[in-house]
Amino acid sequence: MMGTTTTPRKARTATATAPRSRAKRFFAWTGGLLLVAAIVAGVLYGPELIGLYQVGKQIDTIAADSVRTGGPWPRATDACVYCHGYDGNARAQTYPRLAGQPEAYLRKQLAGFAAGTRTDPTMTPLALSMSDKEIGAFAAHFSKMAPLPNATFHADPARVARGEALVKGGSCTACHGQKLEGNGEFPRLAGQGYDYLRDQLMRFKDGTRRDPMGAMAGVAAPLSQQNIDDLAQYLASR
Ligand code: HEC
Ligand code: HEC
Repeated sequence: MMGTTTTPRKARTATATAPRSRAKRFFAWTGGLLLVAAIVAGVLYGPELIGLYQVGKQIDTIAADSVRTGGPWPRATDACVYCHGYDGNARAQTYPRLAGQPEAYLRKQLAGFAAGTRTDPTMTPLALSMSDKEIGAFAAHFSKMAPLPNATFHADPARVARGEALVKGGSCTACHGQKLEGNGEFPRLAGQGYDYLRDQLMRFKDGTRRDPMGAMAGVAAPLSQQNIDDLAQYLASR
């Protein structure tokens, strides 16, 4: 009895509404899938999305600060941050730290890159794009930043001890200052990046870096590779 009455009605209802309910089911499914996809994406990419959002916010803050102080945006020094560090204290040992370098030394180096007396694939084009006024502004900016101890360098005590003896014997402090803190056109060496120091001493030795006074060519000429490594160990850990 029930079977005979309900089956045809069900069948009739089914045929009448089939396309619509299939469509409804399709939308319910895709809607559900989209929701699942959104949740999965949120879990997987949430940190990146939040990171991007924060970078955006940071840029907005920098822009707002610059507008408030009347400065240009992006600030010129932002171009140096990636290699030389936010505070002028590069974290990688291969890049020179600029914080606390004497202003005269920084100005001389930027002018040297621009004039071709010192060459580097990155710094030469950058310095060529700077006006004298900009070079002066960069030098003043980084010289006023506080040099931090080179905490990312892990020194070898035996090499540091040998390096210290070489610094005393080579009277480096006569030009670079009692605490190797630099002065005028003599650069600060204390806490400088290890690989950078090593590299520069090798370049003074082989003549690919020449200073106009010729002071460093004479200093570097007699140094062996081990002397150079030991000196860099000592200087980087000051
Ligand atoms: C892509 C990386 C990079 C960027 C960006 C960069 N520099 Fe450099 N900078 C270097 C490297 C590498 C050296 C070392 C060059 C060498 O070995 O002679 C250097 C060297 C220097 C030196 C000489 C340091 C010393 O102790 O003698 C100064 C000054 C300097 N940079 C200033 C700047 C300024 C100012 C900016 C921003 C306008 C800047 N740099 C942007 C990579 C960079
Ligand atoms: C007679 C003075 C004098 C003495 C002594 C001297 N230096 Fe220098 N040093 C300089 C000058 C000047 C420069 C900068 C050269 C330039 O303008 O390119 C320099 C540059 C350097 C640099 C490159 C720094 C940088 O940021 O790029 C290193 C490293 C260095 N000296 C290490 C030493 C060591 C180690 C000793 C001792 C063994 C020493 N110097 C002794 C005058 C001296």
